[in-house]
This record gives sequence, structure tokens and C-alpha cells, in this order.
Amino acid sequence: MHVPSYVRHERLKAWIAEMSALTQPDTVHWCDGSTDEYDRLMDQMVQSGMAIKLNPEKRPNSYLFRSDPKDVARVEDRTFICSRRQAEAGPTNNWVDPREMKQTLWELFDGCMKGRTMYVIPFSMGPIGSPISHIGVEITDSPYVVVNMDIMTRVGQKVVEALGEDGDFVPCVHSVGKPLSKGEADVPWPCNNDQKYIVHFPEDRAIWSYGSGYGGNALLGKKCFALRIASCMAREEGWLAEHMLILGFHTPEGEKTYVGAAFPSACGKTNFAMLIPPSAFKDYKVTTVGDDIAWIKPGPDGTLYAINPEAGFFGVAPGTSYQSNPNAMDTIKRDAIFTNVALTPDGDVWWEGMTKEAPPQLIDWQGQQWTPHCGRLAAHPNARFTAPLRNCPCADPAFEEPKGVPISAFIFGGRRSNTVPLVMQAYNWNYGVYLAATMGSETTAAAAGAVGKVRRDPFAMLPFIGYHMGDYWNHWFDIGRKISNPPRIFGVNWFRKDNDGKFLWPGFGDNMRILKWIVDRVHGRAYAEESPLGWMPRYEDIDWRGAEFPEAAFCKIMSVDRDNWEAELLSHEELFIKLYDRLPKEVVLKRQLMLSRLWRSPIHWEPTHVVAP
Ligand code: OXD
Ligand code: MN
Repeated sequence: MHVPSYVRHERLKAWIAEMSALTQPDTVHWCDGSTDEYDRLMDQMVQSGMAIKLNPEKRPNSYLFRSDPKDVARVEDRTFICSRRQAEAGPTNNWVDPREMKQTLWELFDGCMKGRTMYVIPFSMGPIGSPISHIGVEITDSPYVVVNMDIMTRVGQKVVEALGEDGDFVPCVHSVGKPLSKGEADVPWPCNNDQKYIVHFPEDRAIWSYGSGYGGNALLGKKCFALRIASCMAREEGWLAEHMLILGFHTPEGEKTYVGAAFPSACGKTNFAMLIPPSAFKDYKVTTVGDDIAWIKPGPDGTLYAINPEAGFFGVAPGTSYQSNPNAMDTIKRDAIFTNVALTPDGDVWWEGMTKEAPPQLIDWQGQQWTPHCGRLAAHPNARFTAPLRNCPCADPAFEEPKGVPISAFIFGGRRSNTVPLVMQAYNWNYGVYLAATMGSETTAAAAGAVGKVRRDPFAMLPFIGYHMGDYWNHWFDIGRKISNPPRIFGVNWFRKDNDGKFLWPGFGDNMRILKWIVDRVHGRAYAEESPLGWMPRYEDIDWRGAEFPEAAFCKIMSVDRDNWEAELLSHEELFIKLYDRLPKEVVLKRQLMLSRLWRSPIHWEPTHVVAP
């Protein structure tokens, strides 16, 4: 095995030797993260039929991949948190005894890379050298994973140098689980549909993934490291690893305010992170630090500072258009990887929602001829683009800032067609934690399983927390006790519908109006009235410049119905019962206070009317 001379870390070398002896690849390749290496791998994958190079005139330096039709999303039911004690993983995670799991994995990985190359990817989550960043090393037999990791993380020699002789790293082992016998031809998307395992060992801070080549199952820096393992590290070390976008809000006067926002998968996080204000908001700007994950540490001044541990976007393609997200469309104009979208006859990409009218003819995500009335989707609903953050027109230069950005507000939101108002501010930190802990959302295609049911998704972390959910809530209460300048906490719901099933709120750029109220609240500039649920704006407290959104519609979308909320509180209780053994006392008390507040408010509550109805 050739090891580059800049690798001076004996423990790392020994681990690679051990993994190579176990998995028995034909060769081992240490990735340097260079453009040459990226181009070479892409060429190889185009040659082998795994990738299609898109028309360079339409989409320079971009490629299309089609996955196996059974390997299209994260597999939550095959995701395990193997802490020593089951109680540590808690009731929201799958658990197997780590000794038993290691035995299983050892057998599965024995010879699993035969006929393939084992790639060693040293990567940094966060700017190299930042006190908030951490290093991982992923070994994988998938060149698709290598090129995606190149975009999503910082890869290569500099990372190994930062590790020095004895730095800490999170070992991440990945195999598609399809060894090749001598002379056996490969398939375009190798994977193992009989055995999939996405396994985390929190005490060892190690990740093992087998059988899937897709997204969060295989790009181990993302959900596995930056959320599941990092949440365990964060709890021990007193910081937060969150499923949050980070955006900067810039006023014409030059004031910058940074906000972290958590939404469950496929609730428009990328759109919100790249929001373009309505044209009437001249000289206001929103910039993007991250669209999916935030690592947040208390600074010496009692403020929370956040970095985006990632360096790229792995965004849901369907629904992305010049109308919904022009910044994302510009970000993916070049240097992008597309997975499971459709191919146009002139070598470009298309997906549902990209244009009003579908092109007359396409090759769909499974490589079949497609026409608009054929009855099938052209792109898979969880089709993705991978693109570097530096290509984003609204990238905030601070995304490379090692110190991170100061966070002034947290926003939590789910996809709820009823019950939850457009916006509210928590009365205090503990109540904000309650709102986040009891978030619910109607499910989407980002994970395998039923679509359209409300599931409780505390902090949008249900599939991503690496330990007991009750302990995680306690950790949030604890952070609140330790910081002197806590961000203010808000709840939003862009997805409320009327009785005919039509969205009440236009969303997208108009979310700026809500964001502005939030930022103005943070700076003590906006009025709010007390509602049964929290501080809320009246109609006149929102900046409606350039809009015609009637007060009656606003009152509807902000209304609070006691009946609905009684049912809602009961379903909070169901979640609390599940977490009973480690439930923070604060949430029980907050629930009682909410009930009390609901009972002293009208059965149907609306914001104070500014214009007489
Ligand atoms: C994602 C997810 O891919 O949350 O970001 O599922
Ligand atoms: Mn996500």
C-alpha cells in the first residue's frame, strides 16, 4: 500500500492497514482532494457507465448519476446508535448491542471491497484549523462518494497536515457492499439491497455504513458525523450540533444579524437559507452560511458562535426553480453533481417543478424514455444536486470564518397544514426549548417511509440525534443556563392551509417579512402582543411593503384554536410518555402553563385587529 509521505499519523496508518486487510480491496488510494483527482475519477466513472457528463455548454463541469431504484433515500429503519447501554440511545433510536453489531459488521466487511479500490478521504468538517471544526477520515469503495465528499467537505493533504502525528479523527467506514469476483463486470450503481446498515458507535466516535451508496447513508461527514456523532461530542463538551441552516440578514444600514433555523427534511431549508427579498426590500440582503447543519459553541463573551461544518449543498432538486430559489439555480449552473434527475435531449437536466411546462421528451431518472403524459415522474422526488457553497451567489464570506458567526435568533418550523400559526416568539429560552422539542411535521420523501403523516420531530433532529432524546432536551436547557447572551427563539409555519387545502401563506421571498420581524424583535425594534402561545406580531407589526396580503388572511394564519391545541398538547404528552425516564421537568411544567394560558384565552384567538373587521 502506498502511503503519501505527508501522512505522519501512525494510528491513522495502522487503521487504514487494518481496514484494508479486512475489506481486501485491489488497491488503496489516498485522496488529495485536488481538481486533477476529481477530474480523473469523473472520467473513470463516465468510462464505466456510472456517470454521464452533461453538455459543457449548458452545464459546465457537471455530471449526472442514476442510482439503483431501491437505493434512493436515507434508510432510517436501518440506522443504529450502538451505545454500550440501550438506555443511552433512548427510545427514538434503533439500538443493537455494540459487541453484537461489531461482530455482524466484521463479517459483512470481510472481503467486501474485493475487486474495487479503497479510497481514503481525510476530511475536515468546518474550516481547517477552526476551534469549532473536527476531522474525519472516510474509507469507501465508491468513487461517487469521493467526488461528493470533495464538494461537501474540505478534503486532502491540508487535513492530514492539520491532524499532525496524533490528532483526533472520527473513523468512518463505508462500503457499497458489492464485492466483485475476478472478471465480474460492475453495475452502474453498486449497492446491496439485502443488507443495509448505517451504524454509529458513540463511545468510540466511529461510523460504519454498509450496502447503500446514496446521500446521508454514504457521505458520512453529513448526517452520520456532523449530526449523530457530533451531537454526542457536543453534549460531552458543552456545545450544540444542530440540523440548522445559518443565514445572515443585512439591513440597508449595514447591520448584520445571523440566525440559525431548524426545519425537518425537505421543508424548504435551502430555499430559506438563500432567500431573495421581495423587490420592495431594496438594499436588504440575505446571505447563506449553511443550508443544513450548524455547529454552535458558546464564546467567551456568552454569545453562541456557529459554523457550517459543510462546504457544499446536497439539496433536493424537485421543486427547485428560478421562481422558488434563483440562488440555488445559479449555484448549480456549473461544477455540480446531479443524482436521479432527468436528462434532456441536449444533455442538460430537468426535474418536476423546474419549469412550468415539462420538456416534450426526456430520459427519466431510471434511464427510460419519458414524455409528459407517461404517468411516471421524470425525477425521483428525493433527487439531489451536490454543489459547492463557493458557487452560491449569496454565499456569506463568513462561511470560511474559523471563529464562526454570532447567532442572535433560532427559528424552528415544521410543515403543518393546520393548528400552528405563521410566527411566534417564545417567552423565554426554556419555553423556546419546549416549542422546539414538540415540533411536528408532515412527512416527505427525504426518508423512506409513509408520506403526509404528522410526526413529532423535536428540533428537526429525530432521525439525527445520537443519544437519548430526553438527555438532548436537558442539554439544551443546560446550555441556556450557561450563556449570558442567549439567542431569542421563534416558531414559524410556512405551510398552513385553508379549508380548501390551499396554502395561506405565499412563502419563499415573502418569508422575508417574517424574518424581518424576527430580527427587529431581536434588536428590540418591533412590537409583539401576548397570545396563548407566545409573543406575536399584529398585522401592522409586519412590514408589508410591496405586498397585498389582507389583514383578514393574516389573522386567519395567526389564529389559535383551543380545540386544536388541546389535541396538540395531548400528542405532546404522547411523546413525553415515550421519553419518561429522562424527561426534563421543565417540559412538563411548560405544558401545564400552556394549557393554563389556552384556558384563559378565547376559544378562537386572533391577533388584535388593527383595521376594524
Ligand atoms: C437532508 C435531510 O438530506 O435532512 O438534508 O434529509
Ligand atoms: Mn437535512
